[in-house]
Amino acid sequence: MKTKSKFMPEPFKIKSVETMSIPTAAQRAEAIKKAGYNTFLLRSEDCYIDLLTDSGTNAMSDRQWAGMMLGDEAYAGSRNFYHLESTVQELFGFKYVIPTHQGRGAENILSTLTIKDGDYIPGNMYFTTTRFHQERNGATFRDIVVDEAHQPDRDDIPFKGNIDLKKFQALIDEVGADKIPYVCLAVTVNLAGGQPVSMQNIKETCELAHKNGIKVMFDATRCVENAYFIKTLEKGHENKTIKEIVKEMFSYGDGCTMSGKKDCLTNIGGFLCMNDEELYTNACGMVVQFEGMPSYGGMAGRDMEAMAIGLQESVNFDYISHRVNQIKYLGELLESENVPMVKPFGGHAIFLDARAFLPHVPQENLTAQTLAAAIYEDSGVRTMERGIVSAGRDVVTGENHKPKLETVRLTIPRRVYTYAHLDYVAESIVNLYKNKESIKGLKWVYEAKVLRFFTGRFEKIN
Ligand code: F0G
Repeated sequence: MKTKSKFMPEPFKIKSVETMSIPTAAQRAEAIKKAGYNTFLLRSEDCYIDLLTDSGTNAMSDRQWAGMMLGDEAYAGSRNFYHLESTVQELFGFKYVIPTHQGRGAENILSTLTIKDGDYIPGNMYFTTTRFHQERNGATFRDIVVDEAHQPDRDDIPFKGNIDLKKFQALIDEVGADKIPYVCLAVTVNLAGGQPVSMQNIKETCELAHKNGIKVMFDATRCVENAYFIKTLEKGHENKTIKEIVKEMFSYGDGCTMSGKKDCLTNIGGFLCMNDEELYTNACGMVVQFEGMPSYGGMAGRDMEAMAIGLQESVNFDYISHRVNQIKYLGELLESENVPMVKPFGGHAIFLDARAFLPHVPQENLTAQTLAAAIYEDSGVRTMERGIVSAGRDVVTGENHKPKLETVRLTIPRRVYTYAHLDYVAESIVNLYKNKESIKGLKWVYEAKVLRFFTGRFEKIN
């Protein structure tokens, strides 16, 4: 087992604390049953360590909280908007910035304005809400990520989030470039395990797209984590700052959607960026219908201020290095006990390979959902299913998507937990792995038509 001394301690100290609840075994068993064995339906108060998501769960800094007091809550033209706008322009380099209530607000606007019925959107693996908006507007999503991204134990390639350029070219040849309004390039790739995309691949993808008149729209949600991997793993970038790398990544593309709830170090918010003036004008017309004025897009002035400050903090090397190393620390603890996981470890989470963890529970018995429920029941640690339940059904045939990756995500919120919390998580999961035979599968009791993982209910199979 690796010792802690290999890892730098937290680059922050604690100024304010939040007491955690520690539910008993009986309370946990009752809570998960009441939640229909869906960790999304647990009450936060029933969880000890909450690794459901890194979305909106960030701890803000003293400076961000101070910024909250500077909120200019004017209906239009808030000074915090101009601060956010200039920060995003400085860090990302895009011309136009439109705030939205969160990432999916930006996805809605981009998809509605650019997709026609019968179009195709290629991307490096799907994300749930992103694909939902693409399909809702009549597009077919095509996964063009490298094959290795679907193989949990392939740890010999550092940039498993890369686009497979041959798959991209094949789609262009098959459907024609005029049916592809943009390629969605996610940095990092959440569902592949938080896997990064190399600068080289970003460049080549943008070249191929632009040669064919196709735009490149980034999903910038975890772009700072991606930049850290480029700095530490890709030759020629080791002496650049995180800030320089982020800007270079985006310099090759045409715009982005952003969930501010992740790498902006805030609890809510998002934005849409683009260089194209016509798209910007149309997006301003749409944001007023669904989000709010183009100068707030569903966000309070104070939240825009916290986001502007958070973005600057996120590109600090000590911060991002600790952030990504926390994932590695947890991964190495589990690895030393041979717990099966997606490798290499990504930027925001450890993904347990549920098929290998519970080989006796087949995918139709919802392997990862079963494991997530069992982890909670065992230790009070809340995690998230990212397998067949999250993948949903094919919009045309109604059949279940059957993803190769059947995973449980242990997502680490930013600046929230210490290494000691991660020790507890690792110990509980290792114990559960040793007693895995007692875990049986689950079956559906209620399935919603869209994004079913949020509200689905399940029952234990005897
Ligand atoms: N894109 C990616 C890669 C995401 O991970 C998310 C959200 C979104 C877009 C949507 O952003 O939530 O602000 O509307 N991911 C969260 C998660 C929900 O838990 O992974 P949003």
